[in-house]
Amino acid sequence: MTLANWYSVILAAGLGTRMKSRIPKVLHPVAGRPMLAHAVSVAKRAGMSGSAIVVGPEMQADPASLQQIDTGAQFYLQEERLGTAHAVVAAKSVLLDQAERHIVVLYGDTPLLRPETLKRLVAALENGADIAVLGFEAENPTGYGRILRNDEGRVVAIREEKDANEAERAVTLCNSGVMGFRAGLCLPLIERIGNDNAKQEYYLTDAIEIARADGHNIVAVTCDEDEVMGVNDRVQLAAAEAIMQTRLREAAMRAGVTMIAPETVTMSWDTQIGQDVTIEPNVFFGPGVTVGDGVQIKANSHIERAAIRKGAVIGPFARLRPGADIGEGAKVGNYVEVKNATVEAGAKVNHLAYVGDARIGARANLGAGTIICNYDGFSKSFTEIEEEAFIGSNSALVAPVKIGRGAYIGTGSVIVRDVEPDALAVERSHQRQIPGWAERNRQKKQKR
Ligand code: UD1
Ligand code: CA
Repeated sequence: MTLANWYSVILAAGLGTRMKSRIPKVLHPVAGRPMLAHAVSVAKRAGMSGSAIVVGPEMQADPASLQQIDTGAQFYLQEERLGTAHAVVAAKSVLLDQAERHIVVLYGDTPLLRPETLKRLVAALENGADIAVLGFEAENPTGYGRILRNDEGRVVAIREEKDANEAERAVTLCNSGVMGFRAGLCLPLIERIGNDNAKQEYYLTDAIEIARADGHNIVAVTCDEDEVMGVNDRVQLAAAEAIMQTRLREAAMRAGVTMIAPETVTMSWDTQIGQDVTIEPNVFFGPGVTVGDGVQIKANSHIERAAIRKGAVIGPFARLRPGADIGEGAKVGNYVEVKNATVEAGAKVNHLAYVGDARIGARANLGAGTIICNYDGFSKSFTEIEEEAFIGSNSALVAPVKIGRGAYIGTGSVIVRDVEPDALAVERSHQRQIPGWAERNRQKKQKR
């Protein structure tokens, strides 16, 4: 049995009413990507050959939202929410197609599950169990299904809170919702489940008692409560985010990143940071950021969909927007915004500048207050600044425009035409000087 023999069914049709949102619950992001995408990725990283996702009508009606979930996942519609077993049946056609594969059911609203944990669940089946249930010891088990075991430690049933008696409610081993079924077992078991219970729903958890009566071997695998925390409202969303952030920061620090105040740094699920990078307090990484070795990111910088190459220095108070590519050893200083632009190796944009839709050649220098005017109110145009050009402070470069290699732009110029290499371009009126004017002016005003 290899891992590729596994297929996952991810339940995501729940209404999520407690989120008080127009967006389906499972599309709310944790660490910069939808919770559902976390679930799909965990299944993939655990080695599953594919995932079927059961969604409700509002998500089906919004194909853009499904596209965010990427990959080869297949979507199935659960028209009415009649319970977790009913949701699995919505993916019946895939269960028939995948009859040779073992099935793992998981939820789309538990973004903290780790692939290693899924692998342990899979291993339990590979070691002979017919069904493996992922359980956890709950600090407060209220609301969860309880995993009931016999004296030999075999799982005999899962009892939902609302249907449990007092003794059963005293059990603290709770059902996470993740369940693995040996090939061929899942669908026939689930189709036998009825809805004779407190909520009149088709409970996936009832599969356990039915399987037990058939003589199947059911085991519980356990994990930390944190990992299977379900997100039902925005307070829990923030709690999941906090746990995820702690994990991401710790992984970065263990891989050689220094964080002075890690609790103030926000990362995304895909933030890639090299070795010997120092990150000062209050730095935000949106999705799609890569940071090379030896980079310094100073306090209060905001970075998304950007690449920062080896040894570059960013911030404090820098903003790198999508498409910013900062070259080796380059400097982007305080109050500088870079969007869709390459700042090549050794170039410097140290203070108060806007660099949009541009290439800044290697070792070029943009003085304080340089603005690239990339937008005329209708369309964006490109600006090219060649290697070693020097742009004097408070210059406006009106795109499209090209500044040749080594050219020099006088301070305060508004540049609307290309400048040839090594030329000086100055665009400003000559300075007048009237000797003694200020003194005469003072005298005149004081007389009155
Ligand atoms: C479920 C489990 C419970 C477990 C708990 C862990 C059942 C009957 N109970 O309870 O044992 O302790 O999760 O959090 O399975 N969903 C659908 N369609 C439906 C109903 C639910 O897709 O018709 C999806 C939801 O989107 C969600 C998941 O299934 O991702 C769980 O549903 P939810 O209603 O939250 O189950 P719980 O009552 O929390
Ligand atoms: Ca739940």
